Amino acid sequence: MIALATPYLWYTTRATGIVALILFTLVVSLGTLVANRIGGTIVGRFEINELHRSLSIVAMIFLVLHILTTVLDNYVSTGLISAFIPMTSAYKRVAITFGAVAFDLIVAVWISSLLKLRVANSTWRFIHWFSWIGFATALVHAYMSGTDARSGVGLLLVGACGGVVVLAALWRFIGRPTRAAGRTALSPLARVKAPTNKRPVSRPFASSARPTNKRGR
Ligand code: HEM
Repeated sequence: MIALATPYLWYTTRATGIVALILFTLVVSLGTLVANRIGGTIVGRFEINELHRSLSIVAMIFLVLHILTTVLDNYVSTGLISAFIPMTSAYKRVAITFGAVAFDLIVAVWISSLLKLRVANSTWRFIHWFSWIGFATALVHAYMSGTDARSGVGLLLVGACGGVVVLAALWRFIGRPTRAAGRTALSPLARVKAPTNKRPVSRPFASSARPTNKRGR
């Protein structure tokens, strides 16, 4: 395996780790908005869902960079295997194990979403629950293994990410509305009005100015 000894790899590992954590916080929070059927007339559920999906791709890119720079850096003895398989890293074994479990769970969620049309909805939903555990283990990993994440601004950031997701989880499980409050996830194409052969129904009292009787009621 190629290994390099430059401090820039180490800086990149730390920076990409923090960025990945912030992005996963946004992804999980946006997912909660979609699940709780939040969406207005300006930003609908479809758009929030699209943002959720696009950000998950960007988060995944940062996570892969985070892992690659760790593996390539010969300052730490963490091989590619340690990114997937728990307890295989010689460097910070337990802390990296939390990262590996987070990565495995996130990959499972990702693959199930790529295959969404081929798997049963209940299976997809079940696997999607893993994202909560994935996020929690990533947070523990960040705190345990981070150089920056254990003090100052880094600690504040990790704490804020955890706080946002705890609030999102509380809202998801306690405050979930029973009925859809916003517009459902429609494709933009579905919003184009389809031509119809039906004749318009005549509704004489459809306007807001309702006819009143002589007493004005
Ligand atoms: C969802 C998965 C993961 C997330 C969100 C994540 C995020 C983070 C964060 C925020 C830090 C703290 C950076 C700092 O304070 O400097 C960190 C540190 C670290 N991560 Fe990850 N990580 C994940 C998975 C992994 C995996 C699978 C590996 C193993 C290849 C790994 C290797 C490392 C290493 C070696 C450090 C220590 C950096 C240092 O000592 O400053 N991470 N990670």
